[in-house]
Amino acid sequence: HLPVDVDLSKLAPGQQTTVVWQGKPVFILHRTPEDIAKLQDAALTDRLRDGDSHDLQQPAYAKNWHRSLTPEYGVYVGICTHLGCVPSYAPAPGGAPAEAKAAPAGGYACPCHGSKFDLAGRVFKGAPAPYNLPVPPYFMPNPTTIRLG
Ligand code: FES
Repeated sequence: HLPVDVDLSKLAPGQQTTVVWQGKPVFILHRTPEDIAKLQDAALTDRLRDGDSHDLQQPAYAKNWHRSLTPEYGVYVGICTHLGCVPSYAPAPGGAPAEAKAAPAGGYACPCHGSKFDLAGRVFKGAPAPYNLPVPPYFMPNPTTIRLG
């Protein structure tokens, strides 16, 4: 498999894009400062099902509170850890796509059995999905490029 480069220069804060890597959807999210602040808010973190994030769900360099190399960008394999459907992105309040309206204050909602994930791919309690969305191996060769693989 060849690595896949993703150009971040046109991805505005609050936007996300989906790319295909090794046949899988990968979500690339440009978090806003508000999104980043929310990730550490106890009102949200108290509701996480896999709060410590199982070791298999991310490389060691993404085992941190934002589950990524830098807080500004989230990178997640978009496959629900329940039975493998593709969750939908809902930005933080305003303009949430109808099918993902139930996503809590910015995050992802799985259309199949209702699992909800935050903007770090962390699953909320009450969901059938047992683990957070996986973080694929990646690095940033420069500040505006993510290289997957
Ligand atoms: Fe996502 Fe079941 S496949 S909740």
